[in-house]
Amino acid sequence: MKQTILITGASSGFGLLTAQKLHESGFQVIGTSRNPEKYQAKLPFKLLALDIADYNSIASFSKKLFREINKLDVLINNAGYLVTGLAEETTIEIGKQQFETNFWGTVKLTNELLPYFRKQKQGKIITVGSILGLISLPNVAYYAASKHALEGYFKALRLELNQFNIQVSMVEPSSFKTNIGNSSTAATGDIKDYDVFRKKISAYSKTQFENAPGPEPVINTVLKIINEKAPKYSYPVGKGTSMLLTMQRFAYNVLEGTVLKRVNAAK
Ligand SMILES: NC(=O)c1ccc[n+]([C@@H]2O[C@H](COP(=O)([O-])OP(=O)(O)OC[C@H]3O[C@@H](n4cnc5c(N)ncnc54)[C@H](OP(=O)(O)O)[C@@H]3O)[C@@H](O)[C@H]2O)c1
Repeated sequence: MKQTILITGASSGFGLLTAQKLHESGFQVIGTSRNPEKYQAKLPFKLLALDIADYNSIASFSKKLFREINKLDVLINNAGYLVTGLAEETTIEIGKQQFETNFWGTVKLTNELLPYFRKQKQGKIITVGSILGLISLPNVAYYAASKHALEGYFKALRLELNQFNIQVSMVEPSSFKTNIGNSSTAATGDIKDYDVFRKKISAYSKTQFENAPGPEPVINTVLKIINEKAPKYSYPVGKGTSMLLTMQRFAYNVLEGTVLKRVNAAK
């Protein structure tokens, strides 16, 4: 029997490519978007309306979902967006909105679907975190905080769901080319003390986005987890991620020094 997979944020980037690949590989795929009518005509899989930042939308989505399918094998929590800006210059309101989608939205949707997984006594929950859930960088404090929060939450959940044969994993990509830069919210600030650093960090971030590789390794990692019998918890993906994590663990001062040197050299 075909496995049924739900993937949030399937209108663009990692979500779209993963959904397409899974559909081509013979899985039953349901994707989501805040505006499915904008994309559905061009897609070979069903797209349902879902805004994970809106609890009412999550509730009505889950009712619609189980009219479409009668079992769910895999939930891929992929929907999310990026807030950039220096920490002190980002308003708490913008920071809260970042958490409302990336953290609370992901948690609430997962909670909504857990009763079905528990009843089935099987399932996989794969959440797209970020390497910024494991390390942090300047200009992305709230994004990194929201992804760190996901790491802590799902690590606990994995241990609680083990008894029900529900497997929980995180995918932690570094920077890849998707639409994330265009859909991001940039907090603007005018604290004079930061003028030089703000300019440099924005030049550094621009280069990072421009030089980011294509997203295939992330899609392949998600597929690998789906096909694995006993997936691990953590799957960092991207060039240099193992090196970064090793540096964080054993030589954090070197990691900090390298980051600051690169940012300061950016033009
Ligand atoms: N690209 C990277 O370098 C990178 C690195 C690490 C982690 N990530 C993570 O990967 C995930 C996918 O991002 P991407 O890079 O593929 O970006 P993307 O191309 O901008 O795609 C984001 C997807 O999330 C959906 N989305 C955004 N806000 C939503 C909300 N409130 N409710 C429901 N859906 C929402 C969007 O759908 P609609 O606009 O149609 O609703 C879209 O399909 C995110 O969690 C991101 O944090 C990305």
